Amino acid sequence: MRVQPGRSAGRFAEATDGLLERLNNSTAVDLRLWPHDLVGSRVHARMLRAVGLLSADDLAAIERGLEAVEAEFAAGSFALQPADEDVHMAVERRLTELIGEPARRLHTGRSRNDQVMVDSLLWLRDDLDRTVQDLAHLAGLLLERAEHALEVPMPLYTHYQPAQVGSVGFWLVSHAAAACRQLRRATDLAARLDECPLGAGAVGGGDLPLDRALTAHQLGFARPSPNALYATASRSDLLDAVALFASIGVDLSRLGEELVLFTSPAYGFLRLPDRLCTGSSLLPHKRNPDGAELLRSGGKLAAGEFAALASVTSGLLGGYSKDLQHDKALLFAASDRTHDLIALAALHVAGVELVPDRLAEACAPALAALYLADRLVLSGMSFREAHHVVGQAARVADETGTTVQGALAGVVPPALVTLAAELATARTPDLLAGLRTAGSASPESCRQQIVELRSRIALA
Ligand code: ARG
Repeated sequence: MRVQPGRSAGRFAEATDGLLERLNNSTAVDLRLWPHDLVGSRVHARMLRAVGLLSADDLAAIERGLEAVEAEFAAGSFALQPADEDVHMAVERRLTELIGEPARRLHTGRSRNDQVMVDSLLWLRDDLDRTVQDLAHLAGLLLERAEHALEVPMPLYTHYQPAQVGSVGFWLVSHAAAACRQLRRATDLAARLDECPLGAGAVGGGDLPLDRALTAHQLGFARPSPNALYATASRSDLLDAVALFASIGVDLSRLGEELVLFTSPAYGFLRLPDRLCTGSSLLPHKRNPDGAELLRSGGKLAAGEFAALASVTSGLLGGYSKDLQHDKALLFAASDRTHDLIALAALHVAGVELVPDRLAEACAPALAALYLADRLVLSGMSFREAHHVVGQAARVADETGTTVQGALAGVVPPALVTLAAELATARTPDLLAGLRTAGSASPESCRQQIVELRSRIALA
């Protein structure tokens, strides 16, 4: 009797309804798992041989067959059949066509429930490697550009209001720090993918003498997953991955917003080259920052994918349910977009041009306020008093059209008039160089930050 893998001809008296078959089919999403599915099958077959559940001839036939299937996938000639419900069944169906009887022993001791999880984890392991590489590249580029812009002043904002003088370099280093943090998150998650689900079976294990530790080690995991029910039902590692992509997306969205804002004529601090601008179909003069806007929106979409994955995998009874099949569409969408957006961010970082005059102009003298208050503190005044005095100077400056440092001498106690007169000459480079705390925007501190972040990238 010819038996199709998957749907057992023995159990059903009629074919699956066409609509159900279409909705149930996941090949459009999961076919990309083929390299991992083949690796998992090869290792599983070797384990079956090692414990005496497969003859040497059958193993040889399976290995040969899997190689042939691999060659078809690699050549793009693998022909999917309508009845292939998912990548696992497509591979097994083709293997059966190619080698016949021995293929029917490959699924011994495993289920698609543990198979899909091992495939997903192997895929994720590779994908996290790529994510680390992508982030390292972006961070490296940010630091390279930062190095040449440590003395180019740029206002720093809180509440979208000018707060302090910083530099373009300091701003770029802040995004490199974000990328390095995500890089560590990706590395941490990859290290946690150390338990192998393969061999857990459908939900509660099986009766055959499988060597799950052998399978785990051959696939590069530290150990088999400790509980078959958990191994097949949980999607928590995938949820962590989508959370990581959402978090990277949030960081990139802030870079996107800053690029949109700083390249808009109202700010004019930065300019995007033509290759990173798009036009308007109606307004001939427009140079729109669509790429930066796409950076801004990516994190929101990934956050949606996180919410969808958390929601679709929650509230289910213990073992596998078909609801879980939605996991991969969400995971792959979040991952694909994240890789694209990291590359898009790198293009923007490499291509963006500075407009130093506008930047300098925007570092208005009112940004000297903290510098002045800190200097009054250094001369012995309490910080609250200094805050009050400089606040008064800022108000006078506003009312009289002078600068805050220019107005200071008129509001300090008589003993500090000389100091205030000295401070009246403070200019932007003085404000920047005067910053001393670790992590501050001074060129000196930024140089240290760059060294520190480069050493983190080198360790990744
Ligand atoms: N295509 C399925 C998925 O992605 C594989 C597991 C199917 N298991 C099952 N018992 N139907 O979730």
